[in-house]
Amino acid sequence: MNLPAPKPEQQNPSAVPAAAAAGRSLDTHLRRYAARTAGMTASEIRALFAVASRPEVVSLAGGMPYLAALPLETLSADVAQLLATEGQTALQYGSAQGIPALREQICQIMALEGISAHPDDVTVTVGSQSGLDMVTRIFCDPGDVVVAEAPSYVGALGTFTAYQAEVVHVPLDDEGLIPAELERTLSALAAAGRRVKFLYTIPNFHNPAGVTLAVHRRAEVLEICARHGVLVVEDNPYGMLGFDGQTYPALRSMESENVVYLGSFSKTFAPGLRVGWALAPHAVREKLVLAAESATLCPPTFTQAVVSRYLAQHDWMGQIKTYREVYRERRDAMIGALEAHLPAGCRWTRPDGGFYVWLTVPEGIDTKAMLPRAVTQRVAFVPGTAFFGDGTGNSQLRLSFCYPTPERIREGVRRLATVLEGELELISTFGQVVRRQPTGPQSPSPDTA
Ligand SMILES: Cc1ncc(COP(=O)(O)O)c(C=O)c1O
Repeated sequence: MNLPAPKPEQQNPSAVPAAAAAGRSLDTHLRRYAARTAGMTASEIRALFAVASRPEVVSLAGGMPYLAALPLETLSADVAQLLATEGQTALQYGSAQGIPALREQICQIMALEGISAHPDDVTVTVGSQSGLDMVTRIFCDPGDVVVAEAPSYVGALGTFTAYQAEVVHVPLDDEGLIPAELERTLSALAAAGRRVKFLYTIPNFHNPAGVTLAVHRRAEVLEICARHGVLVVEDNPYGMLGFDGQTYPALRSMESENVVYLGSFSKTFAPGLRVGWALAPHAVREKLVLAAESATLCPPTFTQAVVSRYLAQHDWMGQIKTYREVYRERRDAMIGALEAHLPAGCRWTRPDGGFYVWLTVPEGIDTKAMLPRAVTQRVAFVPGTAFFGDGTGNSQLRLSFCYPTPERIREGVRRLATVLEGELELISTFGQVVRRQPTGPQSPSPDTA
């Protein structure tokens, strides 16, 4: 066989500029990717967050729990004892559904929000993010619709897009999802012949909106979804973090056959353990376990054992109370600073729990365009566009109060106020800024989650 003569760079590979080679390799892989990867795009703001993590920047962006509130010395002694006494099982493969003792403890936790569940219907997940992934994988075909609040959790939007589902938003107000808007949206989608697979909702201390679905709306939301044949996916990582110790009846406590409930230890204990769970209707449970098995074989036995031991041996409710107190103080610091410093025309939500405040800025300011200027002024936030599947949300942004100290929060809000005033000045000098074309949802980074 006559092979073509090698090109000069093939004769001497070291002569090929590395960047050109990398570009060619990228092209080759681009052609190989599955169509579904088209929706997996890195957020444009990722690079900015690398700068925002510098110590001089007050980051009001990330939703990172304040782990300094954990008794780390006691926990490390516990982990050492776990390895010494149960190491061989704790480090072994386990069941795809999760270790039975932990599933029983999870049922006791869910009982605090009125849920009566059997451990057989609980599947332990690698954080609730992997629960979201599995639920979307088993229910959504390309082109299916997922209905979600406007705004919604960035990580969920990224997952829905990765499975080529289309997100249709339903507005919320200070009492959460608006039932009449849900009814209107589902009727319009049915009339258009669209296949809606589920409503994705975060009823308690919403990320990013900070609001809670009013108790009197809950039955109505369930009734509307049941009537339209739409499953409800209830994502509840913040439900135990009500600042006055209040909890709300889970949607799953009111309806067991049409709700998949997702829970997590990320906000009430620690996210690095990556332990969450899904409580599914009995008929769905088997598919969910099969999906879990294909993704991870089994959730990590070790971290499940750590969580189970922690729940059995520690005052975990006391720890949650400590977290609530820390976050309540930080919420107060943030709300106080917003009231003291923000220019007229700004509006914000007043969360009773969780991590986030949702801020609406005066007309004409584009929060995504403003972010680089804010980072220059040493304050970071997440622009509202991250939380919409259709690229809207330019007039909004999310502020997190979970991680910085109250003093840093006050300083961060002071800096943000200066940035907003600068934007208003620009607008009054040059007129309304030109809006960018909306883009679709992008994959979250831990900074935006
Ligand atoms: C609403 C919501 N769902 C799910 C997650 C993911 O949580 P986990 O760490 O359990 O995967 C987050 C994390 O911020 C969240 O805010």
